[in-house]
Amino acid sequence: MPNKTPVGILGATGIVGQRFVQMLEHHPWFEVAWLAASDRSEGKLYGEAARWRMKTSLPDRVAQMRVSPASPEGAPKIIFAALDASIASELEPRFANAGCAVVSNSSALRMQSDVPLVIPEVNPDHIKLLECQTWRKKSHGFVVTNPNCSAIGLVMALAPLQQQFGIETVMAVTMQAVSGAGYPGVASLDILGNVIPYIPKEEEKMEEETLKLLGQINGSKIIPAPFGMSAHCNRVAVEDGHTESVSIKLKKKPKPEEIIHSWTEFRSVPQELKLPSAPEQPLRYISNADRPQPRFDVDAGHGMSASVGRLRPCSVLDWKFTVLSHNTIRGAAGAALLNAELLKVQGYLD
Ligand SMILES: NC(=O)c1ccc[n+]([C@@H]2O[C@H](COP(=O)([O-])OP(=O)(O)OC[C@H]3O[C@@H](n4cnc5c(N)ncnc54)[C@H](OP(=O)(O)O)[C@@H]3O)[C@@H](O)[C@H]2O)c1
Repeated sequence: MPNKTPVGILGATGIVGQRFVQMLEHHPWFEVAWLAASDRSEGKLYGEAARWRMKTSLPDRVAQMRVSPASPEGAPKIIFAALDASIASELEPRFANAGCAVVSNSSALRMQSDVPLVIPEVNPDHIKLLECQTWRKKSHGFVVTNPNCSAIGLVMALAPLQQQFGIETVMAVTMQAVSGAGYPGVASLDILGNVIPYIPKEEEKMEEETLKLLGQINGSKIIPAPFGMSAHCNRVAVEDGHTESVSIKLKKKPKPEEIIHSWTEFRSVPQELKLPSAPEQPLRYISNADRPQPRFDVDAGHGMSASVGRLRPCSVLDWKFTVLSHNTIRGAAGAALLNAELLKVQGYLD
């Protein structure tokens, strides 16, 4: 415990909350000191309140912690938030107002103009937006968000293409894992042997978040990236890992090896700073014709790398490819942890 910064988890009993518990267990900088969930869990031992779904054991120390009420009194300064959007829209501002640094997974505030939506490899400079937040000016509290679990893998693959070749149009079709719907999530009778071509609000989130993430910061606002973007989102019977089929039109006309090189050589601030949760290689390209697949590739880089494959010409746009990323690690808890690590080295958590 000495030398580690105490952190809290809001929504600690859910799928993303559990992933936070798992990922923080051996974290070199942060340590779980407070857990909160709904009044259904409040007052119980965490081990009783959470139906543990991770493949590693629930740490004993955390199992014995008591679930606190979801209110800022008694909470540590740094809060990882994993709440449904409807609840987050009320609770996250309350914690920020009370002086907490809220590192959120929820969509509630992602598109608010003064709230940074950040992937540390892609747009670390957007963190500066938090200086415009009223909470920050009043109590030093703030909210920083990470993107939707389907936007993050796509945007990681698009970032080097946009930097080097410019993007004109993107079409993406997702095949999203059931763990993306939380626990218990989608009923087994709805998803077994089935594909559900509808995830509420997911297509809108993917489209608007992609343009904000790849946009430019200009003083107190983000100018969205100026390309056309269309997403189709589907739920499939996969446990973890969102796979996406992407078609893209670029401004320049690179050779395929130049595109692959832009992915495999992509490194950014988290790698330069050697942040603890940063993967060595954020994007890996797999040349096997039938990869990436969730079964084999979802845990690449401890779940923090996105895997790209199947680059080939597109007869409508320029190129087609497949990208896969882990929805509860790179798409949720790991994304928030990396954001918090970046905030720490920049002095925002002091
Ligand atoms: N799953 C993913 O792959 C993923 C990826 C990216 C982002 N997200 C986002 O992360 C958030 C959490 O998702 P999840 O999948 O972990 O959902 P989940 O499994 O349904 O967990 C929801 C959590 O919120 C708590 N909660 C519910 N009502 C509450 C209230 N009134 N006050 C305080 N806590 C309350 C629940 O506590 P109880 O157990 O006490 O009910 C539980 O801890 C969502 O906004 C989701 O969109 C999820």
